[in-house]
Amino acid sequence: MAYQQIKIIDFGGQYNQLIARRVRECGVYCEIIPYKKADIAALKCDPPAGIIFTGGPNSVYLETSPHIDPEIFNLGIPVLGICYGAQLMAYTLGGKVATAPTSEYGKTLTDFETKGSVLFEDLPEKGVSWMSHTDYIAEPPAGFKITAHTPVCPVAAMENREKGLYAVQFHPEVNHTENGTEMLRSFLINACGCRCDWSMGSYAETAIKDIRERVGGGKVLLALSGGVDSSVLAALLAKAVGSSLTAIFVDHGFMRKNEGDEVEAAFKKWDINFVRVNAADRFLKRLEGISDPETKRKRIGEEFIKVFEDEAKKIGKVDFLAQGTIYPDIIESGAGDAAVIKSHHNVGGLPEHVDFREIIEPLRLLFKDEVRALGLTLGLDEKLVYRPPFPGPGLAIRIIGEITREKLEILRDADAIFREELERDGIARRIGQYFAVLTNNRSVGVMGDGRTYDYTLALRAVTTTDFMTADFAEIPYPLLGKIAARIVGEVKGINRVVYDVTTKPPATIEWE
Ligand code: XMP
Repeated sequence: MAYQQIKIIDFGGQYNQLIARRVRECGVYCEIIPYKKADIAALKCDPPAGIIFTGGPNSVYLETSPHIDPEIFNLGIPVLGICYGAQLMAYTLGGKVATAPTSEYGKTLTDFETKGSVLFEDLPEKGVSWMSHTDYIAEPPAGFKITAHTPVCPVAAMENREKGLYAVQFHPEVNHTENGTEMLRSFLINACGCRCDWSMGSYAETAIKDIRERVGGGKVLLALSGGVDSSVLAALLAKAVGSSLTAIFVDHGFMRKNEGDEVEAAFKKWDINFVRVNAADRFLKRLEGISDPETKRKRIGEEFIKVFEDEAKKIGKVDFLAQGTIYPDIIESGAGDAAVIKSHHNVGGLPEHVDFREIIEPLRLLFKDEVRALGLTLGLDEKLVYRPPFPGPGLAIRIIGEITREKLEILRDADAIFREELERDGIARRIGQYFAVLTNNRSVGVMGDGRTYDYTLALRAVTTTDFMTADFAEIPYPLLGKIAARIVGEVKGINRVVYDVTTKPPATIEWE
């Protein structure tokens, strides 16, 4: 790849993806690799502009903790260690790491030695940094200068300019660290000599060229779920290979209001073979009498593949099957395996009976917000690209209990009102995801002079950076009141609206 590149070596920290996003926001391409795969020979052979060690949950002085070949510090490649990464650098090079007398967690006032420092030059001498550690660097290795400290932490940052080695105990990638992005930018520019010229425009150009080279004159098949990722992928492939692409849009009938038609309208304009399969009846039949969330998810996933296979068979042999896998789906963590909470349905499931030669995943190195930026660069509508995220199984997992046509109609209308009001207010831009859930609960109400016995609708809106953790969004009461009044007034079948104020964890974002 022609871009300058930073390798982020993952030691199992919780903010690893955030580091990568910040680096890319600075205009430098980067990739995350698990520490076990950080191979010195490969780094020598194709040296990145710089290396960043992430944080991690372990104590470096324990034998079972992740370590690194000390040779990495002799490659002439600048290294920045963050938190565990900082301790690992200190420990490996002969410094002293120990349990801190007091753990530091959260916003911490920090003193910086700005003069002559590569990371902090031109920044204020005092600032808040985000700490999260129980061990600390008690003594830096020989040759290092201490460049920051806190009342608890004698070495909150250190550097050895001659060797290009830098370390910070705090997390510059977290927004709470004042000037954190500036510090990372200083590392990238002043230590690594990065040009910061990576952008979505240049990425799109290279991606289109790469796809053309790889695909040649071959036929490409894409399963379009209608979500943001597969829509952007369709746009990218359309630009790259045009009419060699067949996109099969399986409309399972669980999309939001008008969404299926909007997706179709967006792609009918392009010079590709676009096939929409209206499979709502098939899916509803498969879900008849099913209330269990996991069974719903599994059946929808299976049916999706079947419908796709049926259509693909009509086309015959293709050369490439394209998938909308994105970076967070493939990043391997340096730490242990996570438990499966929900079986996610993505178009990724491999059809067994589709005849293809190779799989291509052109979005596999992009984060969600980058996928969106790419969509805009490729000329997709802002409205399509900035739709709130939507799970593969769609409204089927936002209807608690059995799914019926009537319930789908009710939820579609209520969800549309909720989204419309948040978007009109402007608050939608500050919220990660927002949607309505049709609970299976019915309660008594009074409307006009009559009694009602109708469904309770739950509204869910969360703020999140990575969808792994989330806070409920603080929507002002008057706005919630207005939304509730509109929904019970306009949507027949709902007489009560509640707002979900649970964080993730312990709840998940979706209800099923
Ligand atoms: P949870 O409910 O697990 O959701 O907190 C986290 C994020 O993942 C989305 N989600 C899915 N996305 N296929 C997807 O592509 C799925 O099956 C699926 N289930 C949940 C959810 O909307 C939220 O953004």
